[in-house]
Amino acid sequence: MKGLYKAVKVTDNVYWVGAIDWGIRDFHGYQTSRGTTYNAYLILADKITLIDTVKAPFIDEMFARIASVVEPDRIDYIVSNHSEMDHTGALPPTIEAVKPERVFASVMGARAIAGHFEELGSEVIPVKNGESLSLGNMGLTFVHTRMLHWPDSMFSYLAEDEILFSQDAFGMHLASTERFDDEIGRDVLAEEAAKYYANILLPFSPLVTKLIESLPTLGLKLKVVAPDHGPIWRSGFENVLRLYSEWAAQRPSMKAVVLFDTMWHSTEMMAGAVCEGLRDGGASVSVMPLQSCHRSDVATAAMEAGAIVAGSPTMNNNIFPSVADVMTYLKGLKPNNLLGASFGSFGWSGEAVGQINELLKAMRVELVSDGVRCNYVPNHKSLDECYSLGADLAHKMKERC
Ligand code: FEO
Repeated sequence: MKGLYKAVKVTDNVYWVGAIDWGIRDFHGYQTSRGTTYNAYLILADKITLIDTVKAPFIDEMFARIASVVEPDRIDYIVSNHSEMDHTGALPPTIEAVKPERVFASVMGARAIAGHFEELGSEVIPVKNGESLSLGNMGLTFVHTRMLHWPDSMFSYLAEDEILFSQDAFGMHLASTERFDDEIGRDVLAEEAAKYYANILLPFSPLVTKLIESLPTLGLKLKVVAPDHGPIWRSGFENVLRLYSEWAAQRPSMKAVVLFDTMWHSTEMMAGAVCEGLRDGGASVSVMPLQSCHRSDVATAAMEAGAIVAGSPTMNNNIFPSVADVMTYLKGLKPNNLLGASFGSFGWSGEAVGQINELLKAMRVELVSDGVRCNYVPNHKSLDECYSLGADLAHKMKERC
C-alpha cells in the first residue's frame, strides 16, 4: 500500500493519516448513509506524535499514509483521545509495530484501554485534565471531556499550530475524498453533523452546553478543529459550534415527528389524519413510516422537534416490533422538552397505545392526551379524533414557542 495512500497536510506540523470507510452503512445501529472516516493525526514535533489510530481493518491504510511523510517506527508518542474501538482497534498492533517511547490517554482512557486490550496492561500512561506534555519544540495540553461521549473522552490541543484534536466531538459520519469543511457543501455538513449529534451526543446535551460555555475560559486559539470522523474544520467551526449550542438547548419548536408502522394500513390512515391536524394547526411535520425510515433518521428529526407522536398497531397484545425498536432507541437518546401523543389500530385487545404512552412518559415527554385507539379500520369518527389530536397538539406546541 506504500505509495498509494498519502498523508494530507493540515497545518504546518500536522498531517491527517486516517482512513476512509466508504462502505460502512451500520455503525452500531446508526445508519451511516454516506460512509465514514477514522481520522488519525501525525504531529511532526521533536517527539513525533500520533493522535488516535483507526478501526482495526484499516491499519494498513493508516500506516501507508504515515509512511508517506515519516517512517512509522520514528513515532515517539501515541495519544489516545478516545478508547472506542473505531479509534483504538488498531492501537495494539500499532504499538507493537512502532514501539513508541510512551502511550498516553486520560485517566479513564488508560483504564478503558486496559479493559479492551489485556495485552496492553499498564502500558498506557494516564494524563490529568489540564496537564501538558512537551513534544520538545511543541507542546500538547489535554482537556478531559468526560461523557462526551464516553467516560474516557478527552481533547488534545497543540498551541503552536492552534489545532484542537476533538475526537468524536464536532465530527460526522461522512466519507469523502475532501478532508476540509470548506471543500464540502454546507447542506451536507449541516445534515451529517445534525445526524451525528442526534445519534451520539444528544444524551449528553447538558455537558455539551457546559463545555461550550467553558471554551472561552480555556483561552484556546482555534485555527483548526480536527475531529475523529469526517471533515476537519478550518473555516466554518463557528457554524458547527453555533449548531451544537442550538441542538444542546433543545428549545420547543413547531416541528413535529409522526412515527408509525402499520399492518393493514389502518394505523397509516390514522397517521395521515394526525398529520393533517398538525399541519392545519401550524406545525411542520416529519412523517416517518418505519417501513422506510431508519431509527437514526427518526432520532435526527426528534432532536429538532417540539412534539413526537407515535402510532402502532397492536400485535399479539404488544406494540409493533419496529415501533418498539425506535421508541427504545429514542428513550436512550433522552430528547428533551417534547410534547407527545399516541395512536393505533387494533383487532381485539389494543394494548399498543397504552404501551407507547408508558414509553413516552419514561422519556419525560408531556402527553397531551391518552391517545386515539381505533378498532379495525378507522371510520370518519376515528379519523376526526386523529385530526383533532394533531390540531390540539399543534395548539399546545404554539403555546410553548
Ligand atoms: Fe468514533 Fe465514540 O467513537
